Amino acid sequence: MKKLDVALAARMAARGTANYAKRTPLAVSFELTHSCTCNCLHCDHGGLKPREEQITAEDYRKLERKLKPILLQLSGGEPLLRPDFFDIVDAVKEDSGMPYLIVVSNASRLTEEIYLKALDHGVNQFSISLDFPDERHDEFRKFKGLYNHLSDLIPKLTRHGHNNIVMNTAITRWNLPYLEGCYEKAKEWGANISFSAYSAERTKNQEYNISAPEDLELLRKSIDRLLEIKSSNGRIVNSDWTLTGTYEFFKNGGAPGCKAGERYMVVNPDGTMRPCSMFDLKFKSREEMVEQFVKGNTCGSCYVSIRAYLSESYWKMLSDNVRERVLKSGETGC
Ligand SMILES: C[S@@+](CC[C@H](N)C(=O)[O-])C[C@H]1O[C@@H](n2cnc3c(N)ncnc32)[C@H](O)[C@@H]1O
Ligand code: SF4
Ligand code: SF4
Repeated sequence: MKKLDVALAARMAARGTANYAKRTPLAVSFELTHSCTCNCLHCDHGGLKPREEQITAEDYRKLERKLKPILLQLSGGEPLLRPDFFDIVDAVKEDSGMPYLIVVSNASRLTEEIYLKALDHGVNQFSISLDFPDERHDEFRKFKGLYNHLSDLIPKLTRHGHNNIVMNTAITRWNLPYLEGCYEKAKEWGANISFSAYSAERTKNQEYNISAPEDLELLRKSIDRLLEIKSSNGRIVNSDWTLTGTYEFFKNGGAPGCKAGERYMVVNPDGTMRPCSMFDLKFKSREEMVEQFVKGNTCGSCYVSIRAYLSESYWKMLSDNVRERVLKSGETGC
């Protein structure tokens, strides 16, 4: 992944340490809309939501200055559906260069022009979903032609040499045999890749969960293979411990120790807040969310990468980042 400017990395480490001490979020996801161009089988945000209440770019500016995360995701739904997308980018980026800004997108609306404009406006990284290394991606996302669009677009973007594209693969029972294929595709396109775990919490659909002994065995072998690949090249951005943790999560049917609402949180399109993207909750303020959710949270129903990574000890995260002098931001796809 792209190395961070040393001064920016130092500012981020200082703010991260302060946020950690104050128990305020290190990472925030602004879900700009819950409308989407896709209708993915594992997600509950599919389709357009014509009458959605949406806060403005100025509202996002105020929220960012109040929450002061070191890492901010612009996600959704599909964030590039917002006609005021660039106003929002301008509003949330501080003069200091913070926060580290990631657009999490299915790329259906992404073009080379939009990518370059987004970098000019201060976006640091694009995190783009890839569920299969072929047209099954379209079937899974219910969007014909999306895979061909990605195969045409991603190499054009990576050719600019910014090294800031991370493909995002949520591991399900369906794509389990093709994880190395997804890695190979990302490599062929010149991109990086981050693996995350499917959670049935969103849709309550167990069909994509990995629980049968033969599936768990295949997962264990696939994770071992990804660790082997990772040790010989830098394209897989997960930490070793989140990859092994992904296997443990599926094997144990959960993972304890979640810090949702404390180390990271989500802002809904209408400005209300929720601890993570899995639950359909609406809190009026962070204080209310901490009181009513964080203090009694024993949930371990997902191991998506942002949850996995930010639930570890701060020193483990920091030493990881200092070692590579890059925020493991690829790890934070929702
Ligand atoms: C909710 S989407 C929002 C951004 C954008 N629409 C996209 O698909 O990249 C963010 C990420 O969450 C993943 N996701 C959706 N449903 C999930 C689930 N049930 N478990 C784990 N990851 C999920 C998607 O595959 C995607 O990579
Ligand atoms: S995963 Fe992303 S692209 Fe798919 S329906 Fe959900 S929000 Fe839309
Ligand atoms: S484990 Fe944490 S992030 Fe995952 S669904 Fe539960 S509360 Fe949300």
